[in-house]
Amino acid sequence: MPTEPVPGQPAPAREFLRVEGLTKVYPGATEPVFEDLNFSIGRGEFVCIIGHSGCGKTTILNVLAGLERASAGNVIMDNREIAGPSLDRGVVFQGHALMPWLTVRRNIAFAVKSRWPDWSAAQVDAQVMRFVEMVGLGAAIDKKPSQLSGGMKQRVGVARAFAIQPKMLLLDEPFGALDALTRGTIQDELLRICAQTQQTVFMITHDVDEAILLADAILLMSNGPRARVAEVVRNPLPRSRQRGTLHHEPLFYAVRNHLADFLISRSAMLCDGRAPAIPAEVRPGIDTIAATVVDPASAAGGPERPALHRVA
Ligand SMILES: Nc1ncnc2c1ncn2[C@@H]1O[C@H](COP(=O)(O)OP(=O)(O)OP(=O)(O)O)[C@@H](O)[C@H]1O
Ligand SMILES: [Mg+2]
Repeated sequence: MPTEPVPGQPAPAREFLRVEGLTKVYPGATEPVFEDLNFSIGRGEFVCIIGHSGCGKTTILNVLAGLERASAGNVIMDNREIAGPSLDRGVVFQGHALMPWLTVRRNIAFAVKSRWPDWSAAQVDAQVMRFVEMVGLGAAIDKKPSQLSGGMKQRVGVARAFAIQPKMLLLDEPFGALDALTRGTIQDELLRICAQTQQTVFMITHDVDEAILLADAILLMSNGPRARVAEVVRNPLPRSRQRGTLHHEPLFYAVRNHLADFLISRSAMLCDGRAPAIPAEVRPGIDTIAATVVDPASAAGGPERPALHRVA
């Protein structure tokens, strides 16, 4: 979503990923889960997607990962169409998806060796250690998944995705099962790594505050069937935002209320293909959009782009 510069924000990113007309109908289903999704992600951007349970977020992520085929539309990453899984994309699944017969060390080493087949055992082990330490699991490195708690397994999944240093990280509610303290530590680490490496991230979350802390842009999904990316919220808070002081940022509540209002009312109003196919971009507290007050009957008319009105 390359866009105009915003004070306190980095320069607009070059486009890295483009999703055009993406539609998914599962076999046997009569209606698409989502239909005609259009959005893009800039290189080095952190994008979160929020929407109600069942609207199709995981399905989108699986299509981006190359694990699921769309029924229509295209996904272009780095000028190439995504046609299957690749180590260019590191995925943290909603379930942890670890190999149960391997220890933490060997689960992660397996991914690292696949990524860098020429690395020595010492290089692989150093990379594994670095990311296991990052998620605070040094003491459990030689345990198997069955010996770990749900949150610990989720952290192994996070470490494995980071350890292959992919071009794009795809995270499906990666911190959902974690206690608040661990979640905060990993969020901070994620922000640090992203700032250092210009990592491009697509992350599903149900946590509005997490999205405001982490994301440069937040995709709001309307409810299914025929869900859409109804709106792109550009985070107007400076990228230097910190977890402890986020709620003191002048625009924090404008963003938070905008996201909550969407989830409470507009996501349902815009269900069944009523959202525009080309989402409007909005910066809460700075801009507002026609879609925020649109009459659902008129919204059903078609995929035209809603007008962006500057109010401040
Ligand atoms: N393999 C499948 N076959 C048939 N239908 C599926 C399949 N996977 C998902 N669905 C259906 O597609 C819809 C979207 O599922 P998806 O898992 O993408 O939603 P989600 O937005 O990630 O939900 P949640 O927030 O609960 O994780 C749901 O109605 C689900 O039942
Ligand atoms: Mg899901």
